[in-house]
Formats: sequence, C-alpha cells, structure tokens
Amino acid sequence: MKLAIVFLCTLGIATAYPSFQFERDSMYYWSCSTQLFHSVAYCDGDYNFTCACTNPNALATMAGCLAYGHKNTSSNLAQWESNCLLNGEVTFEEGWFDVAYNYYLENAVNISQIPDFNASEKIDYPIIYDPRDIDLWRYAYYQYLGNYDNALYYGSGALAYWLMIMLFGAINAWSRVMFPGLIKKLNWGPINWWREYISMPATFRKKKAQEQKILKIFDVLIPTRYETIVIFLFYGYILAVHCVKMHYVKEVSLFSSKYEFQLRNVADRTGIVATVIMPLVFLFSGRNNFLQWLTGWHFSTFMTYHRHIARVMFWLVVIHAVTFTVEYKTIYAEEVSEPFLYWGIIATVAAGVMLIQAMLFLRRRWYEIFLLLHIVLAAFYIAGTWIHVIDYGYGPFCYATIAPWCFDRAVRLARLAFFGFPKAKVTLMANEVIKVVIPKPSYWKPIPGGHAFIHFLKPTYFWQSHPFTYVDSSDKSSIILFCKVKGGITHSLYKLLVKSPDQTTTIRVGVEGPYGESSSGRYSDTAVFIASGNGIPGIYSELIDIAKHLSTETKQTLKLIWIIRNYNSLEWFAEELEALRGTPVETTIYVTRAETIINDDEDVVEKDDSLSKLKTEKEEENHGSIKSRFDHIDFRQGRPSIEEIIADKTQASHGSIAFVTCGHPAMVDEVRYFTCKNINNPEKKRVDFFEQVQVWA
Ligand SMILES: Cc1cc2nc3c(=O)[nH]c(=O)nc-3n(C[C@H](O)[C@H](O)[C@H](O)COP(=O)(O)OP(=O)(O)OC[C@H]3O[C@@H](n4cnc5c(N)ncnc54)[C@H](O)[C@@H]3O)c2cc1C
Ligand SMILES: NC(=O)c1ccc[n+]([C@@H]2O[C@H](COP(=O)([O-])OP(=O)(O)OC[C@H]3O[C@@H](n4cnc5c(N)ncnc54)[C@H](OP(=O)(O)O)[C@@H]3O)[C@@H](O)[C@H]2O)c1
Ligand SMILES: *[C@@H]1O[C@H](CO)[C@@H](O)[C@H](O)[C@H]1NC(C)=O
Ligand SMILES: *[C@@H]1O[C@H](CO)[C@@H](O)[C@H](O)[C@H]1NC(C)=O
Ligand SMILES: *[C@@H]1O[C@H](CO)[C@@H](O)[C@H](O)[C@H]1NC(C)=O
Ligand SMILES: *[C@@H]1O[C@H](CO)[C@@H](O)[C@H](O)[C@H]1NC(C)=O
Repeated sequence: MKLAIVFLCTLGIATAYPSFQFERDSMYYWSCSTQLFHSVAYCDGDYNFTCACTNPNALATMAGCLAYGHKNTSSNLAQWESNCLLNGEVTFEEGWFDVAYNYYLENAVNISQIPDFNASEKIDYPIIYDPRDIDLWRYAYYQYLGNYDNALYYGSGALAYWLMIMLFGAINAWSRVMFPGLIKKLNWGPINWWREYISMPATFRKKKAQEQKILKIFDVLIPTRYETIVIFLFYGYILAVHCVKMHYVKEVSLFSSKYEFQLRNVADRTGIVATVIMPLVFLFSGRNNFLQWLTGWHFSTFMTYHRHIARVMFWLVVIHAVTFTVEYKTIYAEEVSEPFLYWGIIATVAAGVMLIQAMLFLRRRWYEIFLLLHIVLAAFYIAGTWIHVIDYGYGPFCYATIAPWCFDRAVRLARLAFFGFPKAKVTLMANEVIKVVIPKPSYWKPIPGGHAFIHFLKPTYFWQSHPFTYVDSSDKSSIILFCKVKGGITHSLYKLLVKSPDQTTTIRVGVEGPYGESSSGRYSDTAVFIASGNGIPGIYSELIDIAKHLSTETKQTLKLIWIIRNYNSLEWFAEELEALRGTPVETTIYVTRAETIINDDEDVVEKDDSLSKLKTEKEEENHGSIKSRFDHIDFRQGRPSIEEIIADKTQASHGSIAFVTCGHPAMVDEVRYFTCKNINNPEKKRVDFFEQVQVWA
C-alpha cells in the first residue's frame, strides 16, 4: 500500500516535468525576431508581422540570423510560423526556410559596409548582422527567457533540498530500526558534538514544546536547533537563487532600462519558484503523507516545515505581484479585468489572510475556526493560482498540489469507514478526565504510541476531529482514550456527562487512525519513559508493548516515571497501572501536589487551617491504602528534578539509554535539555531522546 503511494507520487512528478514546455527551445527565434524589428526597417508600423512574414528581405534577414550558430531548429522555426499566423495571419509554404536562406546567401549586405546607415529608413535588401550583435541579443534573451527555465530549476532545487533533508531523516530513522547495535556504538567525538549541539537541543535553551511568549498575541513555536538550521538554509537557498543570473545586457534595447529588466526578471522568477514549491506546502500539511512513514518525522515536524515553506511561498508571491504591478502600471487598470489577473490577486490575498489567521494565538484559542478558514482559503489559493498560471503551462504544479490533497481526504474517509462507527462508552472520571472506551474491529491494529483522530458524532460537533493517544484494552477488544477536559469539545462532553447518570453515556464515534509511530526507545539497553498528567496513554501503550515482547533472558531495563498532581489521577488509570504488576517495568509515580487541596477551578489552595488538617489526615489514610494497592509501584511526593532523574538513570544504566517523554510541554522540554547535557558522559553510553508529544496548535 505505502509503496504503491510512493510509486504513484513519483510517477506524478516524473510525468509533470517532461510535459512542460521549456522556453529555451524557442529562445533564438525571439532573439532574432526582436533584433529584426529593432535594428532595420522593412515595414510600416511597429512589430508589423503581416509585413515581416511576407517581405522576402525581412524573411531572409531572419533566416540568416537563425542560421548563425545553427539555431534554425524546428522548434525555433515552429515558433516563427505560429507567431506569423497569430499576429500577421500569414501561413508559410513547405520549404520556406530554405528559400529565404538561399535568398539571404545571395543578396545579404554587411551593415558596417554601408556608410551612414540609418536604421529608421526603409531598406529593400537582407542584412548580415554582426555576429557580436547576434550574440548580445541572444545573451539578453538568455537572461530574460532563459530565466523561465532557470526559475524552474531553482524551484526544483528547492524540492531537491527538501528531498535531501528527508533522505537524511529517513537514514536517521531507518538506521535506528535496522542497525540498532551500530547506533549504540555511535557515541564518539564529532557525532556526540553533532547530537549535543545540533540535532537534539531546542534552538534556544529549553523552548520547543512550550511556546515562546511574545506580547501574548505574537506567541510562536520554535523548532529544534536542527530544524531551525534546515529552515534557515532553505531561506538562504531561496535568497541566493533570486540574486544570481540577473545580468542586464545594456548594449541591446530589449528592456528600456536595467531597472525594468530586473523588475521583470524578479517578477518572473519569484512567480515560478512559488508555483514549483506549492505542492510541497500542501503535501506537508496532510495527515496521510507517505513521507511521514519514510522519514519517521512527526506530523508536527511536517507542520513546522509546512509553515515556513508557506511563508516563503507567500512572500515570493507578494514580490511577484508588486514587481509586475510596478513594471506594467500603465496597463494595469485594463488588465485587471482579465480572469488570470484578478484570480492571481484573489490567491495572493487569500494567502496573506492565511498567514495572519494561522497565528499561534488564534490557532490555540479557536482551533476549529482556524482550521475551517484555513481550508477554505487554501481552496481559494489553489483555484486562483490555477487560473492564473494554467495558460502559461504551469498546470502540472497545480495538479501535483491538488492530487495529494484529495488523496489525503479520500484516505481519511476510507480510514473512518474501515474502523466503522461504533458506540463508545464515555465516562467522566476524577480530575476532569474523560475516559472513552471504543470497541474496535479485530482487523484494526493499533500502533503502540500512536494516536487517532476522533469524531464524536453529535449534531453540534460531529465534524470536529481531535487527536488522542490510546491504550489497548486488556482483552484487545477496544481502545481507551483518556481526554483531559479543556475548553472546546472536551468541555461539551464534560457538560453532557455531568448531567448523565453515573456520569456515563454512550456516544457513536468515528475513529481515524492509527497515525504516528513508536519511538526507537525500544532498542536501548535502558528505556526510561517519562509522562506527566494526560501524557500517559501513549507512553504506556508503547511501554507495555515492549514489555510484552521482552524475552526472558533480556538485560533490557524498562522504567516508567509518571508525574501527576494528586492521587486522584490513579483512579482513572488504575486498571492500566494494575496491569503493570508482574511485568519487568519499574514504575515510579511522583505526586506533585498531594499535600494541597485542589478546588473545582483547579486553583491550588495551601492547607492552613484545622479543617484542611483533618482532611489531610484522611487523605494520608487514603494514600496509605493506595500505596498498598499498588505495591509494585514506587510513590514519591513532590515535584521531581528532571535534571537528577536523567543524570541518575544515565549513570545507572548498564549500556545505552533512551528517554521517551510525553506530557506537559515544560516537562518535555526539560527532559530534552538534560538528556542533551548527558550525551557526553564518562562511561560513553549512548543517550537518546524521543519526544512523543506533538504540538502544532
Ligand atoms: C498527537 C496528539 C495526541 C494527544 N493525545 C492526548 C491524550 O491522550 N489525552 C489528552 O487529554 N489530550 C491529548 N492531546 C491533546 C488533545 O488533542 C486536545 O487537548 C484536544 O484536542 C482539545 O480539544 P478541545 O476542543 O476541548 O480543546 P480547546 O479548548 O478548543 O483547545 C485546547 C488546546 O488543544 C489544542 N487543540 C484543539 N483542537 C485540536 C486539534 N483538532 N488538533 C490539535 N490540537 C488541538 C490547541 O492547542 C488548543 O489550544 C493530544 C494531542 C495530540 C496532538
Ligand atoms: N501532543 C501529544 O502528543 C499529547 C499526547 C497526550 C497528551 N497530550 C497533552 O499533554 C498534556 C499533559 O499534561 P497535563 O496538562 O495533563 O499535565 P498536568 O496535569 O499539567 O500535570 C503536569 C504534571 O507535571 C508536572 N510538571 C510540570 N512541569 C514540570 C517540570 N518542568 N518538571 C517536573 N515536573 C513538571 C506538574 O507538577 P506541578 O504540579 O509541580 O506543576 C504536574 O504534576 C495535556 O494537555 C494533554 O492534552 C498531548
Ligand atoms: C503592415 O504592413 C503592410 C504591408 O505589408 C501594410 O499594408 C500595413 O499597413 C502595415 N500595418 C501597419 C499597422 O502599419
Ligand atoms: C538549418 O539550416 C541549414 C543550412 O544552414 C540546413 O541545412 C538545415 O536543414 C536547416 N535546419 C532546419 C531544421 O531547417
Ligand atoms: C562586415 O564588415 C566589417 C567591416 O568591413 C567586417 O569587419 C566584418 O567582419 C564583416 N562582417 C561579416 C559578417 O562579414
Ligand atoms: C534617419 O531617417 C529618418 C527618417 O527618414 C530621419 O528623420 C532621420 O533624421 C535620419 N537620421 C539620421 C541620423 O540621418
């Protein structure tokens, strides 16, 4: 299946390119034709094709020009024929070129031998151009029309750049699976340096899963340092290819000034590069993107790149629009009524609005509105672009954009249908956690550590799909989600459940998945899984899957660390914690606020009076019974020091060690930071970090 998709996509790209008409093929016609109209006068009026295509002297001059350097190729002659037909309603007879060329050979005159040659006066003989002039005209045209081809190559270079980055990703991901033994040994000098300073850390200190706050409204997500470098190299590449091959040939009058020439060149190039990278922007944003499987990158990583490539695309389009408008301001008012132009404007505006409506601040607060608007605007963007470029031959790039989009949507529907639409048992548990038990068909195999998108089929929100990690039920007949109550759909469910008897109800659900992949933590000698709060389900299902497949004589150590606010959380995850009994997993649970009472608003109230003292005593009793119930688990009170945990576990490991983490963004960022600090350890143990949390909103 996946291979088929790879094959289809490759085929799509491979067929798009050859069907493209390269300007370079007919460039020499344009060069000679313009030189003819500019240098000598055979006819009345500017660009009088009716005359130039019939006047034997004009034809002969043209033939001589084309024959210089043997550029009388069939595509150049065809271009001449079609221009004569289009602009002068002239059709040629078979063999016209040979006739014209023979006439040229017999009658042509060397301009430099005519004293006081006046280019504005009509003449009645063919002209032999100075080869240097022809070369200059050709060079000028190479800068102008050759730019169309070059822009295509620059755009393709951008695609190749991302292909290369993805290949690095694929090598990294697949080598971990195929040569885990080798990877463990890769812990010396340059590789450790690379991992400590480039591939693992956040760009600045700890901010990766957490957003960087900027005046609240301008909050941003900052990628990892490696991703930042990849993005900056991409920016650099785009900048560089817009600075080269922009030589103005001042000796010929193709453009009225260097400024006009550069405006046009930049306009053409930015427009074409933006069109060529467009498929990437759309491909990266799809859930069913085979590249995820190839590279092992998270969907959120693709989202990061999607945002940056989209920004680059937008600014290229803006430059394209501004430069063309400035250059052709005199005919703008007249042209703007042409569909190709006003649809171009619609697309540009849609893209601009998208950039603003997709700000993290808006995405976070009104995710569903963001998404809906984003899809509608994207449709306008691609429709506008299509109409704008189709007549110029750039249709293949539009097809390559729309095809994966439609494909993604189709696969999503197929996945939903594949799962069926079972009735799920939905229960409100302690600590505002909603437990959703969804019966699954036997042929649906969950990915340990993966996630699925859930539709709750109620009239007001059936169309929303939210990602959740899941746990396999013990009898494998269902998957179980643990959803923290937040402000949107989870809050609606909460309100519904509070009113329901036993705080339980059944709701029909649609499940789209499984998505995501297990981390490569399983290949380490010690795997430490660290979760906080509701980050536990994915971590747990990955861990339990490893534990199940462990052979008896293995030396692998499995550790689970779960950080929760209070003991109530144990209630909703009790069955799963029970199931850890008898497994080799060493579990530690940190309860960070056991000594405080949490009221309904989740505000933390410090205990201070006698009432709370009483309550505390009672709680202490409860804690005692909980601890005896889960006597296979080590309970600790207070917030753990991630720094110490990582250093201790690394030291205690008998070989390589991996930290796999999900949960509170600040916690995940700390784990990343301190894992990185431990890459260079005295015993030269390989230390890995796998972030299982995904943040794209
Ligand atoms: C891969 C993945 C796995 C997850 N697994 C779990 C889990 O096991 N348990 C759990 O409690 N939570 C999990 N989450 C978070 C969960 O998806 C959100 O809490 C949920 O979508 C919030 O829904 P809401 O409408 O109530 O939120 P809102 O109050 O509307 O939004 C709260 C926040 O959730 C995020 N969010 C909202 N909708 C989406 C969406 N459709 N896609 C992505 N992010 C969204 C936004 O950042 C938003 O700020 C997971 C998220 C991801 C990306
Ligand atoms: N994207 C995904 O893949 C994915 C998957 C599953 C879940 N989720 C989301 O992940 C979140 C899970 O977190 P939560 O909100 O449920 O957690 P939470 O209730 O906020 O609890 C976080 C716990 O971690 C502790 N903690 C926070 N920062 C820490 C740090 N730097 N070092 C040590 N301990 C720290 C807290 O201690 P204190 O009490 O001392 O603060 C608290 O006990 C949820 O929002 C869930 O929706 C995402
Ligand atoms: C073009 O040339 C033809 C003669 O070949 C002439 O009849 C016609 O008037 C010219 N057109 C213009 C616009 O000068
Ligand atoms: C180009 O011109 C040469 C003569 O210089 C001739 O032999 C050749 O056939 C021409 N090519 C085409 C495609 O007409
Ligand atoms: C045209 O004449 C000039 C000056 O006599 C000479 O230098 C040049 O080579 C001639 N060009 C051709 C194409 O014969
Ligand atoms: C060239 O010819 C035009 C029209 O015949 C005339 O107006 C102009 O003065 C001439 N230029 C020169 C430099 O002789």
